Amino acid sequence: MLAIRSLQNPARQCLRAAPRAAATWSISRFYSQERVAKYEGTKDANGNFLVSLIEGDGIGPEIAQSVKDIFAAAKTPIAWEPIDVTPIIKDGRTAIPDAAIENINKNKIALKGPLATPVGKGHVSLNLTLRRTFNLFANLRPCRSVAGFKTPYDGVDTVLIRENTEGEYSGIEHVVVDGVVQSIKLITEEASERVLRFAFQHAESIGRTKVRVVHKATIMKMSDGLFLSVAERVAKDFPNIEFDAELLDNTCLKMVTDPNPYNDKVLVMPNLYGDILSDMCAGLIGGLGLTPSGNIGDECSIFEAVHGSAPDIAGKGLANPTALLLSSMMMLRHMRLNDHANKIEKAIFDTLAEGKSLTGDLGGKAKTHEYAAAIIEKL
Ligand SMILES: NC(=O)c1ccc[n+]([C@@H]2O[C@H](COP(=O)([O-])OP(=O)(O)OC[C@H]3O[C@@H](n4cnc5c(N)ncnc54)[C@H](O)[C@@H]3O)[C@@H](O)[C@H]2O)c1
Repeated sequence: MLAIRSLQNPARQCLRAAPRAAATWSISRFYSQERVAKYEGTKDANGNFLVSLIEGDGIGPEIAQSVKDIFAAAKTPIAWEPIDVTPIIKDGRTAIPDAAIENINKNKIALKGPLATPVGKGHVSLNLTLRRTFNLFANLRPCRSVAGFKTPYDGVDTVLIRENTEGEYSGIEHVVVDGVVQSIKLITEEASERVLRFAFQHAESIGRTKVRVVHKATIMKMSDGLFLSVAERVAKDFPNIEFDAELLDNTCLKMVTDPNPYNDKVLVMPNLYGDILSDMCAGLIGGLGLTPSGNIGDECSIFEAVHGSAPDIAGKGLANPTALLLSSMMMLRHMRLNDHANKIEKAIFDTLAEGKSLTGDLGGKAKTHEYAAAIIEKL
């Protein structure tokens, strides 16, 4: 009843027409063949790339220390610039301090530890604020099985890209009448094209030849339908990449049955599906403690572990820095420092496979700094 009435409403008809009008200029103007999300950072006087470092809360400083120690031992050409993102309220909204924004805008790249979300009114999640401040439109989540850490699945190697700015998380919600609320899923041609183009370019850069869109356009014919039709058009610019699409429920079923057929693909999808499916992939390899991520923007990108600040173990030297370390490997590759990333990553995976210096969450007894020292020994 409600749906029939709202379609008859003239205002609703305007909403239906709007995206088509916008599409004619946005696409050719913003994303004609050019590379999305390129890194053009700055170097200091010694020739080292400047990277903003948000150590974060709880276990953040401990795991950030491991990254700094390992990078120093590996002679990685990085100079860290620590920044404080303790939130301020600006014009009634949660904001990042200006000095932190300027620093990230200057360096174009940041590594971030976990941030505790303040409980109570007046603050939105700082992670969300960072995403919005720097327009980090793609969330990149690779999940690779770790040798030496047995899970029900072997040889998992998934790469998932989530649209990070709109979809179900656009925050457009309202009460229609008492007891009836509406939440609007916003899909725009421009944001879809941006993340899809990034997905194809990322597939090329990591040597994968297949891109798959995960969607539900059978039900959300207009919104997911638009995402899918943009994907079909963008795919034509990448003739060497095989493109197809799969329904979300089908993907979930197939992935938990056997994830290995997804090892040659890059999956790309709207926001909510990506949020859920990326955690499901993390579960396939043993959980969030081993899962890195990158939040990619056109100007700046921020790499971070997926887990939280673990207040229960903070300050005890028990934290596992692997997720932040693997995020820093993604960061190095984004900066085109692939040789440095390959060298450190091999030392990390060799240490994990050996199993002698694992932290408690992986069944070992090592302290955070002992695990880091074992990696340094293997460099
Ligand atoms: N990206 C982020 O910054 C992020 C993500 C999730 C949660 N948070 C915030 O973190 C705080 C705590 O959240 P939570 O308790 O729900 O989740 P959490 O991820 O911090 O902790 C969940 C469990 O996992 C363990 N754990 C997490 N990371 C670990 C690591 N690296 N090594 C060993 N054990 C680890 C913790 O000890 C805890 O038992 C909250 O304020 C939340 O808002 C931040």
